[in-house]
Amino acid sequence: MAKVIFIGFDSDKDGLYHAPKGEPIVRLAKDNGIPINFECQDGDCASCLIKYENIEDEEPTNYIEDKELEKLVELGVLKTKDAEHCQQFTISPKVRLACQTLVKGDVIIKPFLQ
Ligand code: FES
Repeated sequence: MAKVIFIGFDSDKDGLYHAPKGEPIVRLAKDNGIPINFECQDGDCASCLIKYENIEDEEPTNYIEDKELEKLVELGVLKTKDAEHCQQFTISPKVRLACQTLVKGDVIIKPFLQ
């Protein structure tokens, strides 16, 4: 099980949750009433942008789909060279589309505020 800490979404719902590795964040958030705005759930609308911070000693392997990385670059929240770094080392960027994110290890998740 991994620790997933939601901060900044809702004072009643924020806190520590446990989820099996591989669990979609969308399921964890919906099951626990975390108010993340999931409109398309397909990586297209960007309504679900989050800050994603690994808190394990080592960065877990995290394969990110090209479509998500391209969307993050298109939105201007991730630089092309950082996207390439994430691909090369199979690690997560610090900004994600929550609907495309799986639990891979202990993380802190916050709303992405531009
Ligand atoms: S819900 Fe649309 S990109 Fe995540």
